[in-house]
Amino acid sequence: MEGATVAVVGGTGQQGSGIARRLARGGAAVIVGSRDPARAAATIATWAAPAGAIRSAGYREAIAAAAIVVLTVPFDTLAELLAQHHADFAAGALVVDVTVPVIFGAGTITLADIADGSAAEYVKARLRDDLRVAATFKTVPARLLNEIDQPLQCDEFVCGDSREARDGAMALVRTIDGLRPIDVGPLSRAAAIEHATLLAIAINRRHKIHDARFRVVGL
Ligand SMILES: NC(=O)c1ccc[n+]([C@@H]2O[C@H](COP(=O)([O-])OP(=O)(O)OC[C@H]3O[C@@H](n4cnc5c(N)ncnc54)[C@H](OP(=O)(O)O)[C@@H]3O)[C@@H](O)[C@H]2O)c1
Repeated sequence: MEGATVAVVGGTGQQGSGIARRLARGGAAVIVGSRDPARAAATIATWAAPAGAIRSAGYREAIAAAAIVVLTVPFDTLAELLAQHHADFAAGALVVDVTVPVIFGAGTITLADIADGSAAEYVKARLRDDLRVAATFKTVPARLLNEIDQPLQCDEFVCGDSREARDGAMALVRTIDGLRPIDVGPLSRAAAIEHATLLAIAINRRHKIHDARFRVVGL
């Protein structure tokens, strides 16, 4: 990942901030894309990050400047975001979907029914054909990501629409110390990953913990 600029769109949020901070620590040049870049800049200033490794920008500027665009916004904001910025992505960019369409009800957690099959395929269906799409960072928990000095010691599932997309996302995951990427195949596997996130949330609730995550043995 040395040299690649990574935009984390929604990088002021819980999941995005942890990813942005840990990617910067791993040597990536990170742009936090925010609806309010000034507020984002104030947030970034509170992070202990290598000097100059993270800057903020509006969504349009962040998306246009990056070879890799990581989407960490709420799922239900994606349609508008992808329509608005359809033309802004750099040619051939890798788009990494992190969203999970979780619906929290009274004592229940479910996934939204998505006609495309998964959140990642929903993203793919709304992007230009020249862009590659992968899904990852969906099961690593936000709270632990933001405990920046705590080891993650877990695996992260990666799927993608091509070998190239998966390789790019695997390299991105490897940038973060303590995260092992696991290639699980085509983008259609994103549905299984999103269900795994639901499982992690359920484990957290049932066992009154915060950081349930996954490790594959035998690999
Ligand atoms: N939290 C987790 O443990 C976790 C784990 C796996 C996956 N995810 C996924 O990651 C995504 C972000 O989750 P999160 O927990 O980080 O959420 P969050 O804390 O609410 O952050 C989402 C960010 O998205 C941006 N955003 C854009 N439009 C928004 C809107 N209409 N309302 C609220 N925020 C908006 C905001 O950044 P600006 O205001 O700066 O633009 C905000 O900081 C979700 O799709 C979630 O399913 C989360």
